[in-house]
Amino acid sequence: MLVIDIISVQPRMFEGFLRESIVARAVKKGACAINIIDLREFGEGRWRKVDERPYGGGPGMLMKCGPWFAAVESRLGATDSVPRGSSPARVVMTTPAGRKFVQRDAEELSRCEHLVFMCGHYEGFDARIETLATDQFSIGDFVMTGGELAAAAMVDSIVRLLPGVLGGGPAAVASESFAREGVLEAPQYTHPPEFRGMKVPEVLLSGDHARIEAWRQAESRRVTRERRS
Ligand SMILES: C[S@@+](CC[C@H](N)C(=O)[O-])C[C@H]1O[C@@H](n2cnc3c(N)ncnc32)[C@H](O)[C@@H]1O
Repeated sequence: MLVIDIISVQPRMFEGFLRESIVARAVKKGACAINIIDLREFGEGRWRKVDERPYGGGPGMLMKCGPWFAAVESRLGATDSVPRGSSPARVVMTTPAGRKFVQRDAEELSRCEHLVFMCGHYEGFDARIETLATDQFSIGDFVMTGGELAAAAMVDSIVRLLPGVLGGGPAAVASESFAREGVLEAPQYTHPPEFRGMKVPEVLLSGDHARIEAWRQAESRRVTRERRS
């Protein structure tokens, strides 16, 4: 079973995420376990401090090494019987400066046993904290206030790929966008056959599966060309 640890200074941001949605169902079914860890439990001193002003000046606060090393190492120790370095865990740092997270990454991470997500805050991490991470991922070229939504987005995309989570099984993802590298899904339609003058393409109502498949392939190529080249 995949164990996912998410470390954050705003653990309550995950309450809705873990209560609703397919992710909640996956946890209930035993496909994965998700632990939310409050970084402040590893904070320093009486005030459980996790941030400090940056050396060299500059705006805002940076997350300190001490709490992050203690928090991540506590999770590796908690579930991995092998020493750090050869640990099977993947430690994912959320950062706008990371490599862009794509479906291929979700597929790869869904095959792991243990994932640890690091949610940054304030102006981000002291650069030395990067040495804890096996991966640094961004969810797009924009800056958010914290890594919680980025972690939630990645976890959602990983968990839905776990066996038994989606109703339709492997077929449910086989025709989706990015199932083939970089290729987008063809347009889809449901009832009614006509809505405000907009008709469902005739081929989809024909019952001819070979024609429908050919149409979907062609539409998939068209949409990908128009939107991604
Ligand atoms: C305000 S941001 C820090 C931005 C950092 N000073 C920079 O310019 O790259 C605070 C935290 O939000 C998270 N974050 C913000 N945007 C993100 C993105 N596009 N992808 C992943 N994480 C992001 C990261 O965890 C980051 O440490």
